Amino acid sequence: MFMEGERLRAEFGEETVADLSIGQPLEAPESVVEAFAAASRERFVGRFGYMPNLGYPDVRERAAEDVDFPGISSDSIAMTPGAAAAIAIAIRTFVDPGDDVIGVAPYFPEFRLYCETASARFVPVPAGPDLRLDFDAISGALSAHTAAVIVNSPCNPSGHVLDGGELSGLAAVLEAHNNKHDRKVLLIIDEVYRRLTYPPHQRVEPFNLYEQTVLARSFSKDLGVAGERIGYLVLHPSLVNAETHRGLAQALRALGFVNAPATAQRALLHLDSWEINAVPYRERCDIVMDRVRADGLDAIEPQGGLYLWLRSPWLDTLQLIDALTERRVLLTPGVAFGVPSHLRLCFSAPRRKLEMAMTVLGELATQQVSA
Ligand SMILES: Cc1ncc(COP(=O)(O)O)c(C=O)c1O
Repeated sequence: MFMEGERLRAEFGEETVADLSIGQPLEAPESVVEAFAAASRERFVGRFGYMPNLGYPDVRERAAEDVDFPGISSDSIAMTPGAAAAIAIAIRTFVDPGDDVIGVAPYFPEFRLYCETASARFVPVPAGPDLRLDFDAISGALSAHTAAVIVNSPCNPSGHVLDGGELSGLAAVLEAHNNKHDRKVLLIIDEVYRRLTYPPHQRVEPFNLYEQTVLARSFSKDLGVAGERIGYLVLHPSLVNAETHRGLAQALRALGFVNAPATAQRALLHLDSWEINAVPYRERCDIVMDRVRADGLDAIEPQGGLYLWLRSPWLDTLQLIDALTERRVLLTPGVAFGVPSHLRLCFSAPRRKLEMAMTVLGELATQQVSA
C-alpha cells in the first residue's frame, strides 16, 4: 500500500491522493524537534561510540520514572529501536523455538513475523463481536506449548482499549492455566498507543494483575518520530534478573539492532515531559465517526489509537479496496489483520484527506447496496 501511495502521488500529485493505509503519525511537535536538535549537539566522551546494549543508564532511569510502578527501576527497562524491537526481543528471550504465542484477531500483522522469525508459532484467536477479549477462545487455544499471549491496547486496528475486567479476566485465565503446567505464560502487552487513549476510556495498570507481564512502548506515534526508531521494553519487577538481561542484550545483538539509536535516546532526556496533547487525534476520530454515522457505515467508535476499523460495505473487501484505490483512496484490507470482512482507515491525516476518503467510501457503499 505504501508503494502504491508513492506511485499515485507521483502520477497525480499529492493533493489528489488520500493515503490512509499506513499508521503515519501527525508531525512531531516543535518541542520534540528541538529535543532532537539539542541531543545532536550534546558532547561527552563516547557520545558516538557503542553503549550498553540495554541503553544509556540515565535514559533507562527516566523511562522507569515514566512507568511509575512500585519496584520498577532502570533494571526493568531495555531501550529499543521502537516497540517492534521491544516485542521481538521479548519473544526471543522468553519464547523457545517450537513454542506457541497466542494473539487476538484483529491483530497487528507484524506479531506473526516476530514469532515466525523466532521459529515460534503465532496462534490467533478471534476477539468477541464487541472487540473485547473472548476468554473461552483464549482458554481453548492455551496448551502445554503456549509460551506467551500478546495483546495490544489501544488496539491497531480495532481501536479497542482493554478495560480492568478484561485484563483481570485474562490474568485469571492465565493463572488457571499456569497452575496446571510447569511453566508460566508470559503476557506481552503492546502499549504503542497508550497516550492516545480517548476519555472516558483509560489505561489500566496490568502489572497489578499479572506478574509475568512485559510492556512494549514506543515514541513512534505519540511524539511523531516513527522514523527515529525509539521505544522501550518494561519488565515486571519479578522478571528482572541477570539471565533475562543477558537474554535481552543477546537478542538485541542477534537481531542486528545492538542498541536503540543514541541521538533518539538522548532526545528523550531533553524533553521536560513525555505527555502529549491527544486532542488533534481525537478531533480526527470525531470527523470520521460523524461520517460513519451519517452514511450508516458499520464501525465501533475507536477508544484509542489512530484507526477506524470498519466492516466492509461490500461482500468482497478486496474488490472495495481496488475500487477505492481507483478513486485514489488507500485503505488497508482487514485480511492483513486476520479479519477479511473488515478494512482499516488511519485517521491521523489532514482533515481534507479524511473528508475526501469518507466521501468516496460513502459513495461506494451505496453503489454496492443498489447493485
Ligand atoms: C500495534 C503496533 N505495535 C508495534 C508497532 C511498531 O511500532 P514502532 O514504530 O514503535 O516499532 C506498531 C506500528 O505501527 C503498531 O501499530
